[in-house]
Amino acid sequence: MDRLLLTGASGFVGRRVLAEAARRGVPVTALCRRPPSGGRPVGDVRWLAFDVAGDVSGEAPLGGLLEAPPEDPWVGAFDGVGAVLHLAAATGAAPASEHRRVNEEGTRRLLRAAARAGVERFVFVSTIGVRFPDLRGYPYGRSKAAAEGAVRESGLRWTVVRPTAVFGDGSPIVASLSRLAGLPVLPLLGGAPARLQPVAVDALAATLLDVVGQPETVGGTIEVGGPEIATMEELLRRLRQRLRGRRGPALRLPLGPLTLALGVLERVGVRPPVTAGQLVSFVEDGVLDPEIGRVVGETPLPPADGSADVPAGRARGGDRSRRLRREAGSLSRVLVGSPPGEPVVARYLAAHERLPGLMPSSLFERAQVGAARLHPWPARMADAYAALLARESVLRRKTVLLLAILESSAGHHRSIDRPDARGRLGTVAALGLRGLSALPLLAVGFAIFVPVHLLSTLLSVSGPRRGVDP
Ligand SMILES: NC(=O)c1ccc[n+]([C@@H]2O[C@H](COP(=O)([O-])OP(=O)(O)OC[C@H]3O[C@@H](n4cnc5c(N)ncnc54)[C@H](OP(=O)(O)O)[C@@H]3O)[C@@H](O)[C@H]2O)c1
Repeated sequence: MDRLLLTGASGFVGRRVLAEAARRGVPVTALCRRPPSGGRPVGDVRWLAFDVAGDVSGEAPLGGLLEAPPEDPWVGAFDGVGAVLHLAAATGAAPASEHRRVNEEGTRRLLRAAARAGVERFVFVSTIGVRFPDLRGYPYGRSKAAAEGAVRESGLRWTVVRPTAVFGDGSPIVASLSRLAGLPVLPLLGGAPARLQPVAVDALAATLLDVVGQPETVGGTIEVGGPEIATMEELLRRLRQRLRGRRGPALRLPLGPLTLALGVLERVGVRPPVTAGQLVSFVEDGVLDPEIGRVVGETPLPPADGSADVPAGRARGGDRSRRLRREAGSLSRVLVGSPPGEPVVARYLAAHERLPGLMPSSLFERAQVGAARLHPWPARMADAYAALLARESVLRRKTVLLLAILESSAGHHRSIDRPDARGRLGTVAALGLRGLSALPLLAVGFAIFVPVHLLSTLLSVSGPRRGVDP
């Protein structure tokens, strides 16, 4: 069977495509800059590690299709390859220059390399964002639109696939939106809320592999989304409900000044949860064009009431589930800096049904677990105290349990074991800074938990383990 050359294989979508290819027995040549260091997928995978855009800069005319660069990293890359699925992209908060270099020039470079190697089938993964009416302030959308143009002019047997927002465990979009949804006051951006129609990552991965093998899609553009449409505001409220167990206060912010403020923050090197460029997704609809849209999979949107996964008729069980969800949300932010995906939360909940020793039984343990549920900051304080002075405590056990679940779940390896791009000196400096900034939290944590710990011991309320978690 011909191999599939898959770029962006280590990314959020790429990893699911690899898993699906392994399930179908499709051999893959996987390209990214850094192959993942843990949890490699099964199947016939050959890894290539280099920058798809190389050192190409400025305009790279398509006329240069047959010119081989002096040191050609592509030599051998197409051995046995029958089709290319091009996912690699600078995504999220990357600078505009990187969007252009990787998404536009990188795609042109890949097209040239495929043409040189005689590989004709080329599926390009773009984004629904290329249809936003004004792309001037949206460098990612601009670069993808330019790349689509290059693909259409390539003379290859191309298909362009435009996914809507992709959701699933480890989704970068859900992580960013969850950071917004977890703020004490929910920021609602702009006037009329945009609608979106997210697609589940596994359904998208399967569709992409289907499209590669569908000759009827050659020369066409397909949009791929899920079955449910929601407004951005509704999505933020549902995420908030899931994270904090309640909807809470919201504040409507005008888009213009916010775009300006975010632009300034980015210029001085601060990384806000969304960039000025990404704000366009809050005002423009990201739903399928019915003419070229394919609805795939089940809806990946969180349930409207935040409790659909709670067994019916068990209000007490529902409360417990919500508390454990909040706890998992806080602790995951402390451990890996992002909220957990639904499968991680489900495993965390299931572990609480099975494992003994996860019920707080003393005043001290209840105070620690209660603090951890409030917000990642008190969770960090409580964890720092427990790590030094209460290693056997319930909070410590819960933290280790969640870390083990995150470590063994798809989508979280990158945040845990990814090599640091800052180099050794940068990493030591960053760790030092992090240690310094943790000192005030540690001091406050000690001021709160030392007296509670002492009082709890004096009152001897520990005794036999009681289920405070209902
Ligand atoms: N996620 C979404 O919601 C969404 C929605 C619509 C469209 N899409 C499109 O779907 C595709 C996959 O998205 P994703 O969410 O999986 O993105 P992602 O998680 O950010 O992954 C990007 C992938 O591209 C690789 N990459 C980036 N720069 C590269 C370079 N210069 N050379 C070689 N490889 C490079 C990355 O690997 P290294 O970092 O290891 O190099 C990684 O494997 C993208 O084209 C994106 O535009 C995504």
